[in-house]
Amino acid sequence: MACPIARQRLKQFRRIVWEHYRLHGRSMPWRETEDPYHVFLSEVMLQQTQVVRVAEKYAAFLQRFPCWDALAAARLADVVRQWQGLGYNRRARFLHQAAAEVVSRFDGCLPADQQLLATLPGIGVNTAGAICAFAFSMPVVFIETNIRRVFLHCFFPDHHGVTDSQLLPLVEQALDRDDPRRWYWALMDYGTTLKVTGPNPNRRSAHYSRQSRFEGSRRQLRGAVLRLLADGGRCEPAEIAAAVEHYPVDDVKSVLADLQREGFVVAEQGRYLLR
Ligand code: ADE
Repeated sequence: MACPIARQRLKQFRRIVWEHYRLHGRSMPWRETEDPYHVFLSEVMLQQTQVVRVAEKYAAFLQRFPCWDALAAARLADVVRQWQGLGYNRRARFLHQAAAEVVSRFDGCLPADQQLLATLPGIGVNTAGAICAFAFSMPVVFIETNIRRVFLHCFFPDHHGVTDSQLLPLVEQALDRDDPRRWYWALMDYGTTLKVTGPNPNRRSAHYSRQSRFEGSRRQLRGAVLRLLADGGRCEPAEIAAAVEHYPVDDVKSVLADLQREGFVVAEQGRYLLR
């Protein structure tokens, strides 16, 4: 059990975070809205993609799929097409499935409930928390990479292997219950600053793992195959191997088998296309 933060220390911490936000708070399109669909979409996009890249893709996605119904009714292939450039395409499929569930289970109305949201595809308890804070301004407790950095920096400066379970009680104690929405933005913005002003505190997290090399990776091949098929392709593995270069056809076949199993692609007479 972590020690609670002393009163004075807590006051000082909050002052630092709010002051940083006053001076350096960032504006982002998804901070201009409380529409649960918009917030949900942005949080899924932000799970593994940087803010600048999400900012380039967010408005176009909303224009193409403006509401839960539109997304749920879309073909997965069109969602994957619209997702291009954001990476980690599994999220596009989860998002599509989640939209179908919001329509069927919740009648198109996203529940303001962290535990319930975490039952949707692709939504863990932390993303569910972010959605509750930003769409409903609920005083929920969650951690993401920038928040983790803040608490490690401020409360565990000399520790290694710190777990989220150690940080969560402090996140809860420090939460500004008068304005959870803005408080979490302020934490995230402070965490972003800490990333560039010193050694990354997240290296001392028990959950730290560096993203593996993209160049030459299976993830890169997966993205390239999906991109090719998203362009309307109906291809044989050998054609794909010739188009993506540097990958043996067996690797292409293996990636296609994964994509088929996951429901992204179908095979028709030896040719593959997006579902
Ligand atoms: N503002 C709202 N959600 C955010 C997130 N996930 N990352 C950074 N800034 C945000």
